[in-house]
Amino acid sequence: MVRIHPSILSADFVNLERDLARIATADGVHLDVMDAHFVPNLTFGLPMVQRIAEVTDLPIDVHLMIDDPDTWALQYAIGGVDSVTFHAEATRDAVALARELRARGTRAAIAVKPGTEVDLVAEHLREFDMVLVMTVEPGFGGQSFMPGMMPKLELLRGRARDLGIDVALQVDGGITDDTLPIAAAAGADVFVAGSAVYGHADPAERIAALRAAGGGEAVAAASGDAPAGSLER
Ligand code: DX5
Ligand code: ZN
Repeated sequence: MVRIHPSILSADFVNLERDLARIATADGVHLDVMDAHFVPNLTFGLPMVQRIAEVTDLPIDVHLMIDDPDTWALQYAIGGVDSVTFHAEATRDAVALARELRARGTRAAIAVKPGTEVDLVAEHLREFDMVLVMTVEPGFGGQSFMPGMMPKLELLRGRARDLGIDVALQVDGGITDDTLPIAAAAGADVFVAGSAVYGHADPAERIAALRAAGGGEAVAAASGDAPAGSLER
């Protein structure tokens, strides 16, 4: 199953309510919280996330690119926020934090930067609802997809299969019609797209095109088994 989560990083912040309405057909909305410490860029924090939760019905996926998520991440476990993602590189006790988020009814996700291996995450895979494999260095939209990250997805998907658990694998950075199928083939099922959605006149058309690129239309049309060539596992 292909799920498309547009990132509002590439939206018009002055017309955010309008730009949220333009992605109503998406599967979720991805909010990039950046603190100018963990990453060089600065975006927005909790007040914005709270206000966005009030004006959209889409499930919200918060991507925290901040120092010290052990202290701050729980604040984001609010109504309307479906999942909170914190970075492995910034977290002291990822398992404890994931358990606290889940105890509050929020899905817990862990992210890894391109230079971070996923072996430790794979060891504790049951503790997370989603793993975000960054396919660019976090901080900015519009960068090029890093195909070298695909073995991480393959390792995690294989581990999930061995354990018999259902964990979402998200990719973020450089996702386009051309790169989405590469990540899908490696095991990703949640796709963040900023410039590929908001960098065009018709975001809804772009969401449909990305879904189709991942075989989403074929899967939706199938009544029984996934059709030959489908990317659904
Ligand atoms: C980058 C952010 C991404 C960003 C992706 O650090 O985490 O969510 O919006 O932008 P694109 O899709 O343009 O690479
Ligand atoms: Zn992101």
